[in-house]
Amino acid sequence: MQKQGQQTSLQLELLHFQMRLHVFGCALRRARPLAVLDVNVPVEANAGPWSISTTFNLKSQEIVVGLSGKTFYAKPMLELKNISRDYKLGETVHALNNVDLTINEGEFVAIIGPSGCGKSTLLNILGVLDTPNSGEYLIQGQRADRLSRKQRARLRNEVFGFVFQSFNLLPRTSAYDNVMLPLKYRRGNSRDEKVRAVLENVGLFDRRQSKPNQLSGGQQQRVAIARALVTKPKVILADEPTGNLDTKTGLEIMDLFQKIHRTGTTIIMVTHNTELLPYATRVISMKDGQIVNDERKIHV
Ligand SMILES: Nc1ncnc2c1ncn2[C@@H]1O[C@H](COP(=O)(O)OP(=O)(O)O)[C@@H](O)[C@H]1O
Ligand SMILES: [Mg+2]
Repeated sequence: MQKQGQQTSLQLELLHFQMRLHVFGCALRRARPLAVLDVNVPVEANAGPWSISTTFNLKSQEIVVGLSGKTFYAKPMLELKNISRDYKLGETVHALNNVDLTINEGEFVAIIGPSGCGKSTLLNILGVLDTPNSGEYLIQGQRADRLSRKQRARLRNEVFGFVFQSFNLLPRTSAYDNVMLPLKYRRGNSRDEKVRAVLENVGLFDRRQSKPNQLSGGQQQRVAIARALVTKPKVILADEPTGNLDTKTGLEIMDLFQKIHRTGTTIIMVTHNTELLPYATRVISMKDGQIVNDERKIHV
């Protein structure tokens, strides 16, 4: 991908960017590409993941390279339409005030804003832990704001993985058993393999028998992330995941999130720490229950 500017991230004022495709006949046998193509890729305001398909006809030596239209334009993952959430404690608190927000598949969103501005309320509604007083909420195009408790629980389990500031691990339970927990209520085999693979992925396979109080804060958060990942969620919701960690450990957790994001998982993270914002592809600022700024970046 060619650089379009000096900065490492750009505003979406670009109309297109250029990428170079190297087409190999057989990766193992040929070190040199059969063809090099420069392609102009339009960047829509909501452009996100897209895929490239290549087909080879060895007989006619034809190479067909296609940018798949299906995933070329980002698909909405979560859509909030005019969402409000009030708390009535004597006087009414408008925790969320007519919020409109679409989050596309594959985004890495950071939500920032002062304490009490509604960040956790927003995250809880996105994760169907809470229901709005008014407005519509759609998950992959399906209404999610008027569901029964049971339906919401199922949706939560299917779509989301949660990571919290205080890790929320079961205290007298090993890392392995904490990660196994979300699979207890699921049918299907190879649960042991799944737990081992995900602990390996977060770098804690060797500590799988340790209990939370035998692990550092960063390690505990890795266990929590493994627990969130073990069900292969489409979306990770993280509420101040580095809030209880020192800067260096926090950045290690962000590296892990980045690795997870690169596998195609959508990540939505609330944070106070502006040092973490470069990891996100989009930064949403909130104030008094509303979104006051929304900025997308492209990493080039
Ligand atoms: N369960 C609750 N009961 C009453 N008020 C609440 C509750 N949860 C949040 N609030 C209020 O809603 C507003 C937004 O809170 P919250 O979403 O937790 O903010 P943030 O996460 O940005 O700090 C605050 O004024 C808070 O006091
Ligand atoms: Mg909060």
